[in-house]
Amino acid sequence: MADPHLMVVDDAARLARAGADVVADVVHADGHVTIAPATGDTPVGMYADLAERHARGDLDTGGVSIVQLDEYLGLEPGDRRALYGWMDRTVLRPLSIDAGRVSRLPTDGDLDAACAAFDRDLGARGGIDLAILGLGTNGHLGFNEPPSDAASATRTVDLTRDTIEANARYWGSEGDVPTRAVTLGLRTLLDARRILLLVAGASKHAIVRRALEGPVGEDVPASFVREARGSVTVVVDHAAWEGE
Ligand code: GLP
Repeated sequence: MADPHLMVVDDAARLARAGADVVADVVHADGHVTIAPATGDTPVGMYADLAERHARGDLDTGGVSIVQLDEYLGLEPGDRRALYGWMDRTVLRPLSIDAGRVSRLPTDGDLDAACAAFDRDLGARGGIDLAILGLGTNGHLGFNEPPSDAASATRTVDLTRDTIEANARYWGSEGDVPTRAVTLGLRTLLDARRILLLVAGASKHAIVRRALEGPVGEDVPASFVREARGSVTVVVDHAAWEGE
C-alpha cells in the first residue's frame, strides 16, 4: 500500500489522455486483464481516447474481460437507463469487447445469494486488475454510498438523496432515477491490482479534498483508496482540485 499518485491536469482533454495512458499501460503489460469500468460522465472522454487508439491499431483489447461496476435495480429489459447500456455504448462497442467477456451484475432473483456468488466467482478468477472509478458528490465509489465500510461486499443498496439528485442529470429529473442499485463492494474494488480514479469539475472540489486529505472512513467511501491494496492513480482536473 502506498499513497495514491495524484495527477492534477488542466482540462478534460488532458484528463482523458492521462487516464487512457494508465489503461493502455495495464492492457499492454498483460493482454489478459480484467477491468471494472465506471459509467458516469467523467470517464467518457477517456473511453473515446481509448477507442481512437483501438481504431488506429494501437490498443489490442482481445484479452480484456470486463466486470460491471454498478447497475440500477427495478428496470425492465431494454430500459434506456440501464448502466449496462451506458457501458455498452461507451466501452464495449467502441473497444470491440463482446458481451461474452462481460460479467454482468445480477439484477433479479435472490440477489443476496447472487451477489455472494458473484464475489466468489470473481475471486476465483483472480479479481480485478484495473478498477476505473468516478467519484460521487457524496464520496461514493460505484454505488458504495456513505456509510460503506472497506470490507463491504457486492450487494444491493438504497441510493441516497445526494446520488438521486446527482444522477437526475443523466435521465431528466429526480423522478426518473431508480432508487435502488447493485454495486461491487469496496472490498473487491480495494483489492484491485490497480485503481484509476477520475475526478472532474468544481462540483467535486470539496469531496475530492475530503477523500484524499480528510480522515479515512466510511462517511467518505472514496477515502479508502488511500488504504487500497494495489497502486492508485488519481487524475483530477484543475477545476476539481482548486474549486475554480
Ligand atoms: C454515479 C455512478 C458512479 C460514477 C459516479 C460519478 O452515480 N454510480 O459509478 O462514477 O456516480 O459520476 P459522474 O462521473 O457522472 O460525475
